[in-house]
Amino acid sequence: MAERKRVGNIDVIICEDEIEAAKESANIFAEAIRQKPNLVLGLATGGTPVSMYKELIKMNKEGELDFFHASTFNLDEYVGLSPEHDQSYRYFMNTNLFDHVNIDKSKTYVLDGLTKDIDRTCREYEDFIKKQGGIDVQLLGIGANGHIAFNEPGSSKDSRTREVVLTEKTIKDNSRFFEDESQVPRKALTMGIATIMEARKIVLLATGSNKKDAVKKALQEASSLEVPASFLKEHDDCIFVLDKDAAGGL
Ligand code: F6R
Repeated sequence: MAERKRVGNIDVIICEDEIEAAKESANIFAEAIRQKPNLVLGLATGGTPVSMYKELIKMNKEGELDFFHASTFNLDEYVGLSPEHDQSYRYFMNTNLFDHVNIDKSKTYVLDGLTKDIDRTCREYEDFIKKQGGIDVQLLGIGANGHIAFNEPGSSKDSRTREVVLTEKTIKDNSRFFEDESQVPRKALTMGIATIMEARKIVLLATGSNKKDAVKKALQEASSLEVPASFLKEHDDCIFVLDKDAAGGL
């Protein structure tokens, strides 16, 4: 049974393992979509959300969840990777969620990593989120260095969608998905911290002991540029769903 507690301003759900964390977080999203079928979802990629997406796919296939009226915005995309590249985040979203549910793909938005006009692409993404009414529920992972989306340590609280340079730590962490470290793009487009903080509700999912220091700093230390996730304490509807390992430092 998951343990629920409040740490400062944040509701924390501590689960036995990754599977329970996937179910808990999937239930939060499923409930939100049931209450508002045309929900605007903010989505994340990486290793962590894969099991949660599997839960959502299962609910959809069993007729318990309808994605047809929902729209989605992803947090980030690598610069230089085409949507067909098997490590692009568009490809990730198609293969891990969109291809398996009844979502209208024309309403799924991922930043264009091949754009020739980065400023315009980022500005239009922000405008488009606003036009859709803003993000209702945003899913986040957390980097071992405390990053959220690709807002690396040092990112401003006022930051918006923009191009960023990835840190060596993130390049190393993400190299597990590529043939070798040299293949990992050095730059990405990412929503900013201010963009993320405008979501009405935020769900941060973290599993594994390599996240425990970042989770602890985010929840228990004062907000600081060094730990971008620490700004989440200033959001008034933010939930952390953790497994025991990621909660190990609390
Ligand atoms: C992905 C993203 C990143 C990841 C973070 C954790 O869209 O925005 O911030 O959430 O790097 O990645 P994993 O889940 O692979 O440990």
